[in-house]
Amino acid sequence: MSYKASWRSPSNIALIKYWGKHELQLPRNPSLSFTLSACHTNMTMTVSTGEHPSLTILYEGNPKPAFATKINAFFSRIDSYFPWLRTSSILIDSFNTFPHGAGIASSASAMSALALCIKDIDDQINGRTNKDAGWWSQVSEMARLGSGSASRSVFPKAALWGTATGIVASSDHFAIPWQAEVNPFYTSFEDTILVVKDDEKAVSSTVGHQLMELHPYAGARYTTAKENLTRLVDALRNPPLVDRFISICESEALHLHALMMSGTNPFVLIEPATISIIKEVWRFRKESALPVCFTLDAGPNVHLLYPAAHKTEIMSWVKSHLLPYCATEKLIEDRVGSGPEKIS
Ligand code: PMV
Repeated sequence: MSYKASWRSPSNIALIKYWGKHELQLPRNPSLSFTLSACHTNMTMTVSTGEHPSLTILYEGNPKPAFATKINAFFSRIDSYFPWLRTSSILIDSFNTFPHGAGIASSASAMSALALCIKDIDDQINGRTNKDAGWWSQVSEMARLGSGSASRSVFPKAALWGTATGIVASSDHFAIPWQAEVNPFYTSFEDTILVVKDDEKAVSSTVGHQLMELHPYAGARYTTAKENLTRLVDALRNPPLVDRFISICESEALHLHALMMSGTNPFVLIEPATISIIKEVWRFRKESALPVCFTLDAGPNVHLLYPAAHKTEIMSWVKSHLLPYCATEKLIEDRVGSGPEKIS
């Protein structure tokens, strides 16, 4: 028998960063993210049961055996629930709408798309059709086993992953939808991504998480992240506390990179252009009084977050003042998005 599933799944940008894990992808602190829209993975999975077991991976139409190690590791974590993964001929064909490995969480969109395809095919094999809240939690938990941040890509607008004080439904095992808790002011936010560099980053997130285990400031970081989460959750509510939102967002981004630079095996992922852009953001915000702020992922690229209502003025400043810092003169105009979509 042959089965096929196609899903589009977005990347996400963490406002409170997940950096440090233990056991099987369990986070050392809770994290909260906006789900993106333009940056996504489109994936089709084709499964033929009763054939010689095999795994073929295509990326942008070309064979990509380099992805096999990560995908096989993911399969071995979940194949007791999906035994057909080990006994079927499987083809995974995907492409991203953004540069792979440039610190724009490509593993979040790819692993959430893969979790969705697997769950969808399992439903087809077992004749299930219902996609209730429990279904989405299970997909989030599976996605987490592929890449921690992928657990958050499963939900529209905003998601929270990790046990958080005072948030009863929160869990280290899966993310929970957070859209309903966020003032619509934020769910209309743009995310203009300034691509400072679009080649593979020097140190992977996997290594970065590992280095946190021996990091001299790890304890302080996890405490601060938990406090920042509580304060951000409050800032996102009614009425929105924009100044607090901005200060937490930027502080989290700087903490993330300061941790990379201050561990026992230090490394630097930002570039001189990243610092120049940050200074330009601070200067522009002071002069214009517009609510624009930056955040960073595990890479040199800068995410500018601001309300859609100010897009014209902000994009005009971006083009005149920030585009020259982008080595590739490239930017991605993204925004808070509506979550994964099944495609035919
Ligand atoms: O999901 P991972 O293992 O690629 O880690 C992602 C870590 C950050 O992107 C830096 C932060 C986050 O919470 O997404």
